Parts: sequence; structure tokens; C-alpha cells
Amino acid sequence: MTDEYPLFALSEEHREIRKAIREICDDKVAPHAAAVDEEARYPQEAHEALLASDFFAPHVPEEYGGAGADALATVIVIEEVARADMAASLIPAVNKLGSLPVQIGGGEEIKKKYLTKLAAGEGGFSYCLSEPDAGSDAANQKTRAVRDGDEWVLNGTKRWITNAGVSEYYTVLAMTDPEKRSKGISAFVVEKSDPGVSFGAPEKKLGIKGSPTREVYFDNVRLPADRIIGEEGRGFEYAMQTLDHTRITIAAQAVGVAQGALDYALGYVKERQQFGKPIADFQGLQFMIADAGMRLEAARQLTYAAAGRSERGDSDLTFFGAAAKAFASDVAMEVTTNAVQLLGGYGYTRDYPVERMMRDAKITQIYEGTNQVQRIVMARQLLAGVQSNL
Ligand code: CAA
Repeated sequence: MTDEYPLFALSEEHREIRKAIREICDDKVAPHAAAVDEEARYPQEAHEALLASDFFAPHVPEEYGGAGADALATVIVIEEVARADMAASLIPAVNKLGSLPVQIGGGEEIKKKYLTKLAAGEGGFSYCLSEPDAGSDAANQKTRAVRDGDEWVLNGTKRWITNAGVSEYYTVLAMTDPEKRSKGISAFVVEKSDPGVSFGAPEKKLGIKGSPTREVYFDNVRLPADRIIGEEGRGFEYAMQTLDHTRITIAAQAVGVAQGALDYALGYVKERQQFGKPIADFQGLQFMIADAGMRLEAARQLTYAAAGRSERGDSDLTFFGAAAKAFASDVAMEVTTNAVQLLGGYGYTRDYPVERMMRDAKITQIYEGTNQVQRIVMARQLLAGVQSNL
């Protein structure tokens, strides 16, 4: 029985994936994390290391030349990269976010074209849903796509677009029938080189400074008919379905950054001496460490349980995606803040990584839907009678 149904244990293959990605991160990602943050520069070393090891967009199915990592394996990759450098973990995370609408809604032709390019490392994939007036109210799209013969003409502004300017490909949500609100939204693939595409200045952010966040402008961008993803009017549905899966990758980032901070703090408290003994000997600090370990493990378990639902496409995925994201990101904020506390004055300086990790953790409570939006999503699911699929 246990062979067939592992009792919440990772498979040997998943453990191997963790080992492989951790080695890469220790060697090629972590050593650059402080400089990437300090200089607010793209983590090119991580980009190259992830490409070379097939962890750049590991979720792409094998039939499109990808590694075919399942949702749990992808979560483990993102978690491990975030443990070393959260900004770098946005590379595999956003490549999944940007391309998943194509995978979910697209026909064979568009999937083959763009998933193959992504898997081959020809460019990353960003997700353009948010706009100046469409943040939590994502259906309030002002970007317009108007049909003109065989083409679509795209005009509008997207805001808070992760890896904008670096990515070659963009899934863009646009209103094609404003009368219909969410049912009048369609999704398109836009390429960076399409005439009329341009980018704003990089935002100056509190954390994840290595991951560029910019506006994207579309000025009469003409798209051939085959750039529409799936059916006209179903873009919002594809966008929401995508977030059900990818909110779990944000939970993975949260678990990873919290683990990175806890690991560092555990080493520090054993070394740091006060009152003639290591500060790890003081029970007040032991309680903080115990709480951090306990909450972090609960967040990890919920995230992995959600990843299983994502892989199987279970009916309770929407609830689990929102719950994992909200819970893990709150844990990450608490654990990283307490890691700074454990290091005292040193923790508050840039000479130690926990300060960066605390700043980086904050975004996990905000993006891919604020934790307030996650609670709306969860409450709606519960009130609609969705039960945990155990
Ligand atoms: N799956 C399938 N369909 C869904 C769905 C889901 N999970 N959620 C909603 N829909 C459908 C609904 O069924 C509905 O269709 P019907 O009318 O036929 O029932 C339609 O979409 C509209 O849904 P709602 O009425 O629920 O829409 P709403 O306007 O009330 O909005 C919301 C709901 C949950 C608040 C949504 O707007 C939302 O998730 N907002 C947050 C946006 C967000 O997460 N943005 C993240 C940006 S990406 C990012 O941050 C990336 C990054 O930087 C890394």
C-alpha cells in the first residue's frame, strides 16, 4: 500500500532534483546574490546556470523539448533557487507564469511554436495582466485589441511586469469586447521585437532588485491572427486558471527564502557569544527558532500538497493555490524578520544576507494577488462548498 501511495514523502526523483539544483545554487547563484541586490542588476550568472542545467523553465513538457518537470519538481527548483537568491527564482517562476496561459488555452500550433522556443532557451516568458487601474481588480482591463482584417491591433499599458525587457515573449491580456467585462478579455502572445513594443524605466523596489519590474507599452502593435491564445473572450479564464497553478510557485519562493534565512540564523546563533556562551543556549531564542522551523515546515507541506493538486488538476486547486501562497508568504515574512532579530544589529546591515531576505520576502505577500485577494478566493471556494480533495 505505501509503495503505491507514499505517505506524504518525496519520491526519490524529487529528492534527486533538490540535490541537483541545490548544488547549482550553492556554486553559481548564492555567491552573486548580494551583488545582484546591491547593484540591482539582472542575475545573469543564475540565468546561465539555470539554462545550462535545464532548470530555466523546467515545467515545459518533454514533447516541446522541455525537461517535463511536474508541478512538485518545479516547486522544488523554485524553492531552492529562492533559498539562494529570491530575485533569481523569478526566472523559472515567471517562465512558468508567462507560458502557462499558452499551455492551458492554446492550440497545438501556438504551443509548439512558443513552448519550444522557451524550452530551447531562446528567451524567457513574462505575464502581462496588471495595469495601472487593474491590480486586484484584474478584469478592469484597459488594454485594447481590435481586429483589423487578419490581424489584431494592440494598444495599452501594462504595469509591474516581472522580467520585462529581459523576456522575449509576453502573454498579454487585452479587452476585445469591453461590453462583456471578464468575458470580453482575450490573451495574446507578443514578442519583444514586435514593432510598437517598448518598456518603461525599471521600478526602484524594496527587494527582488535583481528581477527587473517595468511597464510595457503597446503602441499600435499589429499581431497576426495566430497570436491569439485559444478562444476569443476566454483570456480572463486562462489568466485565472494560470494563477491557480502559479500561486504555488510563489509559496515555493516564500518557503525557500524563509529556509535561507533560518539556515543562516541557525549558524549564527551557534557562533555568536554573549554573556560567555553561544546565544543559541538562551531559551528565548530557542523558542523563536522552534517557531520558525515549525511554521516553515507547515508552509512547505501545504505548498507541496498544493503542487500535487496542480499536477493532477484537482477540483480544490483554486483553494489550495491561494491558501499555500497566503500562508507561506506570511510565514516567510515572519521567519525572515525574526532571522534579522536573531542577528541583532548585524542582521540589520547589508553585511549579512538576512536583511536582503527580509526585504525580498515582502513581495510574496503582494504579487500574484495580494494575500487579501487570496482570502477572497478561499472564502468563495469554501462558501461554494468546495471540499478538500483528500
Ligand atoms: N478558474 C477559472 N475561471 C475563473 C477563476 C479560476 N480560478 N476565477 C475566476 N474565474 C472566472 C469566473 O468563473 C467568472 O466567470 P463566470 O462569470 O462565468 O462565473 C469570471 O472568471 C470572473 O470571475 P470573478 O467574478 O470571480 O471576477 P472578479 O472580478 O470578482 O475577480 C479576483 C476575482 C479573484 C479578485 C481576481 O480579479 C483576482 O485574482 N485578482 C488578483 C489579480 C492577480 O492575482 N494579479 C496578479 C498579477 S501577476 C503577478 O503578480 C506576477 C508577478 O509579478 C510575478
